[in-house]
Amino acid sequence: MELWLDTASVDEVRAASRFGVISGITTNPSLWAKSGGGREYRDVVLEIASIIDGPISAECLSQDVEGLVEEARRIAGWHPNVVVKIPIDENGLEAISRLSREGVKINTTLIFSTNQAMLAGQAGATYVSPFVGRLDDVGEEGMALVREIVEVFDRYNFPTRVLAASLRHPRHVVEAAKAGAHIATMPYAVFQAMFRHPLTDAGMKRFLEDGQRASGVKV
Ligand code: E4P
Repeated sequence: MELWLDTASVDEVRAASRFGVISGITTNPSLWAKSGGGREYRDVVLEIASIIDGPISAECLSQDVEGLVEEARRIAGWHPNVVVKIPIDENGLEAISRLSREGVKINTTLIFSTNQAMLAGQAGATYVSPFVGRLDDVGEEGMALVREIVEVFDRYNFPTRVLAASLRHPRHVVEAAKAGAHIATMPYAVFQAMFRHPLTDAGMKRFLEDGQRASGVKV
């Protein structure tokens, strides 16, 4: 399973990139606003694309089909690695079908059901993004949706990749991997939490102290 960062913060992308394990980025308008705003979305996405050599999702804001198609074509032209995010509704689905036939890579966002995922897959979307945390927030089991989409896509050999999104904690990342998601996209804080374990810290401290004692260095 690939690990992607869910952020529009160039600083976070740069900080995470040094480990060489992040292979893509997802952004959305809320993350763009949270990153401080004031900069053109295109400029933010292009700076991220200069740091990470992998798919970078950038989201459309248009509501009607023609607007979505035009905006998506424009966003796709920003950089070869840009993937256009389109929310799944009737207009979104029509736009996804048309754009996919033109070869525009689409990440279908705001997926909350397997039916939505199947429609997006049939329409030719490259990715579907089930939102795990937001389903958990309303008392459903978000990861069950990831499992079901993976099962259906596997059974019928859909080429569409399942991108587990709206992950809120490191256990979600493990559960996404067990569910068979192709990609997990996570906030920077969740990525950082993947490193940590108190026993690792305690073990390192003890190894250092014992090593210094063995070598005669005063601890
Ligand atoms: C995914 O592409 C979305 O940007 C993101 O995962 C949404 O997460 P949230 O529900 O924490 O806002």
